[in-house]
Formats: sequence, structure tokens, C-alpha cells
Amino acid sequence: MTYKRRPVVVGNWKMNLSLTEATELARGLLERLASLGEGESSAEVGIAPSTPFLSAVINCVEGSDLGVSAQHMSHHRSGAFTGESAPSQLADIGCRYIILGHSERRQYYGETNESVSLAARAAHDVGLTPILCVGETLSQRDDGETLAVVLKQVEEAFKLLSAEEAAHTICAYEPVWAIGTGRTATPEQAQDVHYAIRQHLKELYSEQVADRVRLQYGGSVKPGNATGLMSQADIDGALVGGASLDVDSFQTIIHIASTDQ
Ligand code: PGA
Repeated sequence: MTYKRRPVVVGNWKMNLSLTEATELARGLLERLASLGEGESSAEVGIAPSTPFLSAVINCVEGSDLGVSAQHMSHHRSGAFTGESAPSQLADIGCRYIILGHSERRQYYGETNESVSLAARAAHDVGLTPILCVGETLSQRDDGETLAVVLKQVEEAFKLLSAEEAAHTICAYEPVWAIGTGRTATPEQAQDVHYAIRQHLKELYSEQVADRVRLQYGGSVKPGNATGLMSQADIDGALVGGASLDVDSFQTIIHIASTDQ
């Protein structure tokens, strides 16, 4: 029997919003979530503010089901790493998730499959749920390398995780060419990659583990395209950038992810 995965939708706010805007958006979202009926809000929901506002946003959502994610962390435990946040420090302030290997971090800040693998290990050591981002560039897709690139990223990202840890990990497929561009993968293109990721996790671990890992799609997810994407068999939610900055759009995507599974 197939395991019923709970959808998970996370808003990646990136380096946007002022302190006031961030706390207002968090409060607004809480109100919206409270007003959703049962079944309309069955998705697990998270928000990822910029690092300086993590504590303020965590204070706003305290006592609710809304989880907070950081967007980056060091894989080191502590020490002379100026500008970095340690895994235990993020856990200390109440973060629930950590986004790792986002394509913007890979492109501009030198994150690699190797550093993602170490950070995923470090996240589980302190009880943070990693959201492991993978995805191909446009030229890799055009050259027919999508699955080779993505499955390699998956393999490396999960490399240091036990079966139990893997089952409690989220993996986000985000084609680089779809991030912030308004170009989304078609539901079929996304499903093909999600299916391949799940098959690969089955080979790396087992069917039970592969059945439990939640696979998000990310890349220009909007209310208008979420229904097609979220109804795919292996798409278990979304990592949402731009549309998560607007409470109406984000609420609609949460609603769709909750009901379209
Ligand atoms: P986007 O960003 O929804 O603005 O394309 C997604 C992401 O980077 O996670």
C-alpha cells in the first residue's frame, strides 16, 4: 500500500522585505491559515525569512503550526567562520527547516554537492528538517542531461543520511531555468523528474523510504499553475519564491496543495 504523504508548502522570501513587512506577512498568513477549513489547510506550511528576521518571525508564529526555515547555514558546528550561522544556533532560535543547495546559493556562493551533503548531515544532527534543492540549468536540459544532473545531486545530498533521516527529509526539484523567470516546467516535465527522483531514492534506500520522502516542485509556482503541478502523483508540495510574498497568492497555493493531492 502506498504511504499517504502530507503536502508541504514553503515560502522562500529570499532577500526581500523590511522587518515590518516580514512580521506583517507572517501575521497575515497566520490569520489566513486559521480561517481555512479542515481539509483546506491539511498541508504543512513553512516560511523562510532572511536571516536577520528569523527570530522576529519565529516570535510572531510561536504556538502555531507554521514552521520557520532558514535559507542557509554552515555545515560546521562552531568556530571561526565569520558571517555564518551554525546549525545548532538555528535550532536554538526555533527554526524547523533549512533550505540547502538552492540554485542561487550554488551559483553565487559556491555551494556544491559536497557542502550540501555535509550540511544535510549537520541539519539532522540538530533536528532541523533539510529541504534539499536540486535542478538542472537550461543548457543541461537542452543537452539532455536533466536526469543525470538531478539524480547525481540527489545522490550526493542524501549520501550521509540514514534511511530514517532520509524519510524525514524534503527534496525540492527546482529547474534553474524556471526560478524567478515566470517560466514553469509543465506538470508532465516536473512529474517525470519527480518520478525519477523517487525511483532513485528507492534504489539508494528502499521503497518504504522513497514513499515517505516529500518532493516539492519549485520555480515560478503561482496560483494559476499550481493545480496542474500539485495534482501530479510524485509532487508533494511546493517551494514558492515570488508568489509567497503575497499573502493571497500564497494562501491559494496552500489551499491547492492541500486539496489537490
Ligand atoms: P520563484 O522562486 O517561485 O520566485 O521562481 C522559487 C525558489 O527559488 O525557491
